Amino acid sequence: MPASVFDPLADHALRLIDEDLSALVRQPRDTRLTAGAAHIHLDARKQRLDGPALDALFALLEASGFSAWRDRLLTGAAVNETEARPALHPALRDPSRLTEQAVADALRAARSATREFAEACARPDVLNGHPVRRVVNIGIGGSDLGPRLVSDALKAFSREDVELRFVSNLDPADLDDALEGADPQTTLVCITSKSFTTQETLLNARAARYWLARRLGEAGADARLAAATANPQRAEAFGVAPDRIFAFADGVGGRYSLWSAAGLCLEIALEPNVFDRLLAGAAEMDRHFTEAPAEANLPVLKALIDVWNRVGLKRASRCVAVYSSRLERLAAYLQQLEMESLGKGVTRTGEPLADEACGALVWGGRGCDVQHSFFQWLHQGLDEAPVDFVGVEALARQDDPRAAALAANMVAQGAALLDGRIAEGEFAEHRSMPGGRASSTLLLDDLTPEALGALIALHEHKVFVESLIYGLNPYDQWGVELGKTLANAILSGDQDGFDPSTRALMARLQLGGSER
Ligand code: F6P
Repeated sequence: MPASVFDPLADHALRLIDEDLSALVRQPRDTRLTAGAAHIHLDARKQRLDGPALDALFALLEASGFSAWRDRLLTGAAVNETEARPALHPALRDPSRLTEQAVADALRAARSATREFAEACARPDVLNGHPVRRVVNIGIGGSDLGPRLVSDALKAFSREDVELRFVSNLDPADLDDALEGADPQTTLVCITSKSFTTQETLLNARAARYWLARRLGEAGADARLAAATANPQRAEAFGVAPDRIFAFADGVGGRYSLWSAAGLCLEIALEPNVFDRLLAGAAEMDRHFTEAPAEANLPVLKALIDVWNRVGLKRASRCVAVYSSRLERLAAYLQQLEMESLGKGVTRTGEPLADEACGALVWGGRGCDVQHSFFQWLHQGLDEAPVDFVGVEALARQDDPRAAALAANMVAQGAALLDGRIAEGEFAEHRSMPGGRASSTLLLDDLTPEALGALIALHEHKVFVESLIYGLNPYDQWGVELGKTLANAILSGDQDGFDPSTRALMARLQLGGSER
């Protein structure tokens, strides 16, 4: 077999796979397994990893050309080769590192435009003399998951007089629910779509406009639309007034767009300056990622651990268990960020990737709830998935027995996965837990806009570092295109080339050709 750059990891995995993890964790641990920056502390001492394995991972990082690629990312050079684009999400937080001043100026101007509009929404002049009381964001994927995560997480920072609702799904019930109880006069519909071609978003936007027009007439409906997009011409053709269209650059990836005009609904619904604080927290993490040496760099360390579990230990998935109910959507957010970025089969130059050298499946949910469901599988099932526990220090310190119990549960789960238990007596085999199962704990100092921004930026950079080690392009997503094309073909009634099972389903669901 030809040598692979990942061979050294295989050697270390062979050495460590049957080590007693419980004992390993009790030995003096490599200091690189804990790190902190920008409101976040990572304890990775429960990972099945040691100094020599970490050295091998850092060697892979070095071989990936990390520093040069990081410079390319931060200065706005093209890092997305298949689409010949930069990845501008760090520049949305701080444009000063960009090489091209014109791009930096455009980002600053775009930021001022959304800020001004959000401020205006608090006054009674935006909706034909009415203040905004409900914002309905219509978008899907990156145009939905990021804003939704932030909206939930920063509920404590939202304006009391503005309600923010989200619509992403084609099930008509989704829009019905978002509009339930809404006063059309005081409702602003934000259509968020980078491409402004996404079927789900356009169909829902049409339905929302129809809902408005039936109640307020055509002009009234138009006055209640706004758009955030990289395709302003299409938004205008849809009927959004040019002064309500907030553009962002093509170089802002959909799943990285939260920081751009795609966060417009948040700017309107959060208290003044909260969106700026979110950006500032992300910028803090950007600075750390830029300036900290690799050995003490939080996104780098997190990336190396995830590469180790995936390629070294061949773990197909990673579980994210959040111990803060307001972070419930983190796993869904990370699913898109990581799996749309790293779910690839070829390198940047189109060569097949080595086995397991692409991102893992990400899944998870909210502790304690998930302890009463899939944690059984984590503790005693035959597959192993490393767990990321995510907690909030200030929450644990609240003077409330529930908050302390929540934190105790999080810590207990990590210890139980690690140490397991040898039971005795009746049903001992059933009651025993193997232990030896790895986890990391990420602690936010508090659930503030700054810490949340830093947490998201940490994962964005982690994904970037992983992509360098795997050698793939994290900024395109060709894999989602075929399904979209086929859905349109099915709707148009084109049965050509479909298999008998698909044709039978089309017939049963009366799809295709019918006027609906
Ligand atoms: O289908 C995938 C995708 O292109 C995502 O990358 C994107 O976040 C989502 O669709 C929505 O796209 P848009 O913002 O262009 O409507």
